[in-house]
Amino acid sequence: GNYSGPLRPQVHFSPPINFMNDPNGCFLDANGTWHLYYQYNPTDLVAGNQHWGHATSKDLYHWENQQIAIFPDNDTEQIFTGSAVIDVNNTSGFFPNQDNGVVAIYTVNNAVSETQDIAYSLDGGYTFTKFEGNPVISLDPPSTQFRDPKVIRHGDNWVMVVSYATDFTIGIFTSPDLKSWTHASNFSHHGLLGLQYECPNLVEIPFAHSSDSIYLLIVSINPGAPQGGSITQYFPGHFNGTHFEPVDGVARIADFGKDNYAGQFFYGSDSSSPVFIAWSSNWQYGQVVPTGTLEGWRSSMSLPRQISIANVTGTGWDLLSVPYNIPSIFLSQLGNSSNLGNGNLEVNYGSLPSGAVYFQVNVSNASGGGTLNFTFSSSKTRESVKGGFFFDGDFWLDRGGTTGFDNPFFTDKFSTSNPVVSGMFTLEVVIDRTILEVFLDYGRNSATTTFFPTSPLDTLVISTEGLGDAVEVSVVVWGLKDAWA
Ligand code: FRU
Repeated sequence: GNYSGPLRPQVHFSPPINFMNDPNGCFLDANGTWHLYYQYNPTDLVAGNQHWGHATSKDLYHWENQQIAIFPDNDTEQIFTGSAVIDVNNTSGFFPNQDNGVVAIYTVNNAVSETQDIAYSLDGGYTFTKFEGNPVISLDPPSTQFRDPKVIRHGDNWVMVVSYATDFTIGIFTSPDLKSWTHASNFSHHGLLGLQYECPNLVEIPFAHSSDSIYLLIVSINPGAPQGGSITQYFPGHFNGTHFEPVDGVARIADFGKDNYAGQFFYGSDSSSPVFIAWSSNWQYGQVVPTGTLEGWRSSMSLPRQISIANVTGTGWDLLSVPYNIPSIFLSQLGNSSNLGNGNLEVNYGSLPSGAVYFQVNVSNASGGGTLNFTFSSSKTRESVKGGFFFDGDFWLDRGGTTGFDNPFFTDKFSTSNPVVSGMFTLEVVIDRTILEVFLDYGRNSATTTFFPTSPLDTLVISTEGLGDAVEVSVVVWGLKDAWA
């Protein structure tokens, strides 16, 4: 793959060529290597002919492309989304002589059915052999709306969540050996339904600043997101090994942008810091974005995110989402201010090889209004991507100042409400050539937004206005490494 094109993200994963969608089979092995598989069409710039592409990383930012890991058997079937586990104790019997056996659990799609199948890897996840007893779960009568198995370990069992997509139902199955599965319960018609439920994940998740934990069920819907198209929603709740009970009946979405779908948690990472990655696009326009015709690839993943949860009086349940160990890719500091007051900070990053920038703003003693705005722009064409926070609680983003993509579903503006509870909040922003991610208020609200300028953005302005004397604002801007160089 050629990663040097001006639209190519430099700290986000994107496929070498052709079309990528959902993350699949994410796991961390015992040697500290992160494995990312993904829905991949190696022969076209749109979805179809789906395989599992594969890449590995030591830090979740520098990726090494690997050979395609799972292929369809013939041209009438496709390998759809799924997950992977490490079968340390050889429950499956595939691994008599090793404790690093990997089992992939995925959907086989064809014209008449979707079934759940498994494949095992004796070499730590690089090559897979399909189980001769496949499928391990099929429906009678067959259905083409039964997909996206995600498997976790719970007690002495394997537990699968899988979607009966157009029935708005997540099935929960258990297994002692990954081969024989028993249906345990259904989670049905909760939250936003959209047109279908896809890509469920069940994960134990820590409360922020606490050793307590709770379970989290996430369900992607497409189409039918409040913003249009596809989005992920989440349900905090309790899981007893067979049944999931949500804490309440509220629908909550994980991202207020339009480009965060089909996310998956990595198997095998420390349970006190779950790591999540999502497809940064939207089925409304993901197959027609201009990177295809201009550079021969489509879609990137989101940043890896560390996820926790909070339940705060006044604001309620919130998923907290922050970039995973972002200081590991800091290259050089481009600017800072220990107290911006009512002022602005301008940084020109045109000579930064990656074109990727991170900034963090810390605000304390906020009260009585004021705004914080940021603009990334091109000094050549004046195209821009920008956002701003009104301290009384409204955040907005606008990608409409870039002109490289014209599509009715490529909506310009997004907003969310984020009341400031203690007078303190943070804003973290990562921009990476064609993708912007914002994390507001310690990650309480986040948004993932692609954008397509005709000329690279190279100038950042951060400004504040209308702040009272007591408000303190500190800012630091970092240039990021070029992870593909
Ligand atoms: C979600 C999805 C999954 C399916 C895969 C096919 O984006 O539609 O439900 O397994 O993509 O590529």
